[in-house]
Amino acid sequence: MRFGHSPNDLTHIAPYGRNISYTGTLGEIMLKPFLANKVMKKESLPQLWEITLQFLYDKQYIESLVAFLRGRQIQSILDCACGTGFPAIELKKAGFDLYCTDGSEAMIRQFRHNLEKEKLDIPNQVSDWPNLGKLDRKFDAVLCRGNSFIYVDSWDEGIKLNPQNFLSRGRAALQGMYSVLNEGGLLYIDIPSKKEYESGPVLDENLGKRLVNGQMTKLAWHVTHDWDKRVRVVHSERLVDNEKFEHDYCSFLLKHEELQLLLKQVGFDKVSPLILEGENGYDIYVAERLGSSITSPNSVYEVQEKVRK
Ligand SMILES: C[S@@+](CC[C@H](N)C(=O)[O-])C[C@H]1O[C@@H](n2cnc3c(N)ncnc32)[C@H](O)[C@@H]1O
Repeated sequence: MRFGHSPNDLTHIAPYGRNISYTGTLGEIMLKPFLANKVMKKESLPQLWEITLQFLYDKQYIESLVAFLRGRQIQSILDCACGTGFPAIELKKAGFDLYCTDGSEAMIRQFRHNLEKEKLDIPNQVSDWPNLGKLDRKFDAVLCRGNSFIYVDSWDEGIKLNPQNFLSRGRAALQGMYSVLNEGGLLYIDIPSKKEYESGPVLDENLGKRLVNGQMTKLAWHVTHDWDKRVRVVHSERLVDNEKFEHDYCSFLLKHEELQLLLKQVGFDKVSPLILEGENGYDIYVAERLGSSITSPNSVYEVQEKVRK
């Protein structure tokens, strides 16, 4: 991983001067039709994410995740950002009782396709995080991983990202996750690493090259942090047999302290960092629901206040 690149230089905020436009100061940020016009003709966002996963994780991550979950005597798991099935499919194969949800119909469609290929059966449905409480069962663990949380409102295409809404939407999302946990259960949630934040606001990451579907593929990310607007943009560039594909992922730039406070405010009793081998890009937190707990959340604006101090 290669970090660096003029740390205080904000002139790169719109990578390569392309289709990202910010309208208003703290107001709504519109992403003009994704950079990915070229990409979208050839592959969907779920397919792109599946290719990206091959650069981010290997067997070592699954092994350490399985060991962690077994160590905590976890049996039932809700992967509430299951995407196209990583790591839920591997966890199912390892013997856990899996249930999967995701807010994106396109991701779930690809997930179902992958289940068929694997001849596996995992109950699943489309569900936005704040609605998780409508599920008719509870779990020992909820997974919200793969840097999903910061995309609470901004994963699918045709997005309007409104950073001002993030903390209230994020809190409702965490409440949904909390509500489906058994007492004694845990939430696994991750966020861009402190290392990334410290190395910003502009970073280049070379994720290397490998054979993907028989084609030599190179992947690089150009990441920008705009702390005034609270926006993180990952400009992804892939070279496949010398043809270039581009895509921008745009999300809220969430501070670690904010995540920790929100977790406490929705009722989690204990929040601790977790290090797993094979997870190199994101920092993981484990939030535990110890016993019957009464949620008395403060206003999200209080979260902002506390973080500022
Ligand atoms: C970066 S992908 C990660 C997918 C998967 N966890 C993995 O590690 O490959 C983020 C996922 O979060 C899901 N997501 C984002 N906001 C959501 C929301 N509000 N409710 C449910 N799912 C959401 C997206 O649809 C997407 O599948």
